[in-house]
Amino acid sequence: DAGVFTYDPGFTSTASCESQITYIDGDEGVLLYRGYPIDDLAENSSFIEVAYLLLHGELPNKDELKGFDQTIRYHTMLHDQFDQFFRGFRRDAHPMAVMVGTVGALSAFYHDSTDINDPRARVIASHRMIAKMPTIAARAYKYSVGQPFVSPRNELDFATNFLRMCFAVPAEDFVVNPILSRAMDRIFILHADHEQNASTSTVRLAGSSGANPFACIAAGIASLWGPAHGGANEAALTMLEEIGDVSRIPEFVARAKDKNDPFRLMGFGHRVYKNYDPRAKVMRTTCHEVLNELGVTNDPLLAVALELEKIALEDPYFVEKKLYPNIDFYSGITLRAMGFPTSMFTVLFALARTVGWIAQWTEMLEDPSQKIGRPRQLFTGSPERDYIPLDKR
Ligand code: SDX
Repeated sequence: DAGVFTYDPGFTSTASCESQITYIDGDEGVLLYRGYPIDDLAENSSFIEVAYLLLHGELPNKDELKGFDQTIRYHTMLHDQFDQFFRGFRRDAHPMAVMVGTVGALSAFYHDSTDINDPRARVIASHRMIAKMPTIAARAYKYSVGQPFVSPRNELDFATNFLRMCFAVPAEDFVVNPILSRAMDRIFILHADHEQNASTSTVRLAGSSGANPFACIAAGIASLWGPAHGGANEAALTMLEEIGDVSRIPEFVARAKDKNDPFRLMGFGHRVYKNYDPRAKVMRTTCHEVLNELGVTNDPLLAVALELEKIALEDPYFVEKKLYPNIDFYSGITLRAMGFPTSMFTVLFALARTVGWIAQWTEMLEDPSQKIGRPRQLFTGSPERDYIPLDKR
């Protein structure tokens, strides 16, 4: 379980790390952030409070929460020149390409907080990243739709501020629907951390070399983009649109079972969960709340999703392989209903997961035994041999 494995040549290598942040029991479908069940936090907490919990290990008292919240609110602005950065991209650039490019460039603007050996600089960089990711993400969206950037407002909470920066336009007043703001905040909570997944491991590995925090988070964004990982929410909605109607579900289910067909049911299965992803349960409830609030009662994609889930949960093939819906299955339908294009789904995932990446990065740097990461390999290539001159080949 600890990822310790031994090869014939007799060397052992641990492919795991110790952490106190997030616990997953894949067989039981349990997810705890610092010991607190994800559904309890999604129901009762806020993303800012969960961010504090992941970073500090304990739920904040009133003063601690107020202080942390204020700190984040006062770091949401971006350097004026940074805004020019977006204008170098083509309008049709994928927002994740913009995120990878711009977040890495933060180290060129905030170099007073890149010294990872200075604990104070690490904290400042952490606060800056958590606070500025919504502003950067909203700008990536606004730039893609050709609308002017909307500045953050300090009087607004994290999720409301983000939705306003995405959907407000100078031509009229804009008030964020509090139901949608609460749903957005809950979606951020669900995506905040998830133990040593591919992108978090990428951030840890990059951080272990001493790279600056902004570069490490940019590496995490790049890894999250893959359709097998964070890109699955975009891929899941694209799959539902391709299925289009419940009558076509059997055709796609058959393809998912066909070993010769690379097609996978996007939003199903998981490296760790062999039970229902606890986040997917909350995501499904949130999906219904958002669709009801928006009066979207007959979304054909929701009908396809519900029927596909029902079939998959009853089909012996999927039952035997323990394939359940994961967090990405319902998030796409919800985000699309809220007004986001599919290209923004993984951006929202990255925005939320920045908190988990930073908590894990900080934990790693504070571990005195930490060394640079160096995954080992099992060499299966050619044994030593002599060079062959070109005229002899
Ligand atoms: C995320 O790691 C994390 O924590 C990630 C994440 C996070 O919060 O950071 O939870 C976020 O990435 C969620 C997962 C999102 N990805 C998808 O929804 C893409 C679709 N899912 C598959 O690509 C797949 O399930 C993976 C990549 C997620 C896991 O692949 P594995 O490790 O191969 O899954 P497995 O070992 O449990 O597979 C068992 C069998 C295999 O078949 P056999 O080799 O036994 O014949 O089930 C098959 C797989 O081929 N299988 C699927 C399937 N997922 C696995 N068959 C059809 N459809 C699928 N979705």
